[in-house]
Parts: sequence; C-alpha cells; structure tokens
Amino acid sequence: MITLRAPAKVNLRLRVLGREQSGFHGLETLFCAISLADEIRVARRDDGEVELVVDGQAPTALPEDNLVVRAARAYAREIGEAGGFAIHLYKRIPSAAGLGGGSSDAAATLLALQALCDQPLDARRLLRLGAGLGSDVPFFLCGSPLAWAWSRGERLLALPPLESRPVLVAHPGTPMPTPRAFQILAESRGAGFVPGAAVLDSGGLGDWKALRGLAVNDFGEIVAREIPGVGDALHAIRHAGAHIAMVAGSGSAVFGVFATPQARDAAVPSVESLGFATWRAETLAAMPIPRPAPS
Ligand code: C5P
Repeated sequence: MITLRAPAKVNLRLRVLGREQSGFHGLETLFCAISLADEIRVARRDDGEVELVVDGQAPTALPEDNLVVRAARAYAREIGEAGGFAIHLYKRIPSAAGLGGGSSDAAATLLALQALCDQPLDARRLLRLGAGLGSDVPFFLCGSPLAWAWSRGERLLALPPLESRPVLVAHPGTPMPTPRAFQILAESRGAGFVPGAAVLDSGGLGDWKALRGLAVNDFGEIVAREIPGVGDALHAIRHAGAHIAMVAGSGSAVFGVFATPQARDAAVPSVESLGFATWRAETLAAMPIPRPAPS
C-alpha cells in the first residue's frame, strides 16, 4: 500500500489570455503548493475493479465522477493492465474553491500508482496522461512546489522553491465552478478583448518581495462581485498585514501570504467573523513523496 499527501495550490499570479479554438483560455500563471492537503492511500486489488472510499471534512464528487477514479482507470489503460486498485481519499481541501484539490487528488493517485507498479510510465507519458485529466494536474506532477505555467497549464517551468511562508486560506462556503468563472470573465471582457502579453523578468522570481510585484489574478474582480464576503475577506487579510492577498485560482476561496505565523493567526478572527472557514497553512518548500504504508 502507498500513502501520499495531495496538497492544495494557490496561484500567485493568474492572467487569463485569449480564448483558444479548443474553447479553453490560454493562461499565464505561477503555481505554488501549500500545506493544506488531502491524503490518499492506494493498494492493489486482484479483481480489476477501482474502488474509492472518501471521508474527511470536505464534500467531493461521487466516486464514479471523481477524478481519482478516472485517473486510476486512465493509468491502467495506459500501462495496459487490468489495474484493480482500492483507493482511500481523505478530503480536507474544499471543492470548486480554486485550490486545485480534485486535480491534486488525481495527480497523487497517478504518483501512488507509479510507486505501486513494476514498470512505471516515463515522465512525458505521465504528464500527458495528467494533462488529459485536468488543467492543474501537470503542476502537481512536476515535482516542484513552485512553477510557472502557460497554455492550459501543461507547459510548465519548475522553479527552485522559495523559503516557506505562512498562508491563511479562507472559504466563503459558496462554490465557484471553474466553467462559470471563465464564462463570466469572457462575457465581461466582450468580443474586442485583446490579451496583453506579460513581460517577465527572470531576476524577479527569486524572492517573495519580487513575487509580490507579480501578484495579480484576473478572476479577482468577478469573484469579489459574485460571491458575497470575498471583497471584505480580502480587505481583512490585507489589513492584517498579508504581503499577498488574492482569490485562489478561479475562486471562491481567498488566501493571504504573511511574513510570520503570528501575523497570519491574527487575521483569523476577522475573517471568520465574515462567515468564512479558515485553514492555517504554509507554502511548501518541497512536494510530498509517495511512501509505503502498512496494509
Ligand atoms: O480544466 P478544467 O476541467 O478545470 O476546466 C473546466 C472548464 O473551465 C473548461 O471546460 C472550460 O470551460 C474552462 N476553462 C477554460 N480555460 C482554461 C481552463 C478551463 O476556459 N484554461
């Protein structure tokens, strides 16, 4: 049996570029993994079935629709085996929150299966398989907790991790489905929208101070407009001294990156008084690795 933590992510920068012919939008984004994590345990089954048991603190998709099951079936097809697996998923990361939970669970499943199988896939095939499951999956497979991504997120540049920083994650209780967020953004921009090319300075990626200057999320305004309390929560997080305070991905969660755990913790009461659930976390300096577990 293999066990693995599946971390959430935040986007320290998220620019949505033009809509491509595929219907998807090109992105320019900076992914950062955080310590808020689901946990996954995978064991082999002899009967060729994929069984998923979910428990934990956050609701998630039913087993048949769950990306974890789709990941396990796709992996078995790719390696050409019947692939029977028993998977246990412990959920902490809220869904439709912009935190990449479903994608991270799928990536963790693939990594656990790689560790279980005698002839694991090479990195290219694994990344391609992941990209077919969801836009954020390749990031969780790339091995670094910090990475630039372009296109749909499958073109990745893994960056050297920065020192860990305290993070506050807050969720309003209302989900924001990703397709809806993209649709509202596209409608608000209209047909005449011309995406601006960002100018990146490679020297500007080396520390938190520099990243602060890049921190922008194109979904910020629409999520604050659509989801009650988001604007106030961001204001409270900034007021408490966060260096970066943004919507997570396409929402509805928000997050703040702080200099000290004390500053982060001081923000909790004001954010919770707005009706938000909160999680104290840190940015990750390394991605979790699969470990054998007692059966
Ligand atoms: O990749 P994911 O399954 O999360 O995407 C859900 C939906 O969000 C897509 O079907 C598409 O409508 C929209 N989307 C997009 N551009 C992206 C990612 C998602 O338009 N880069």
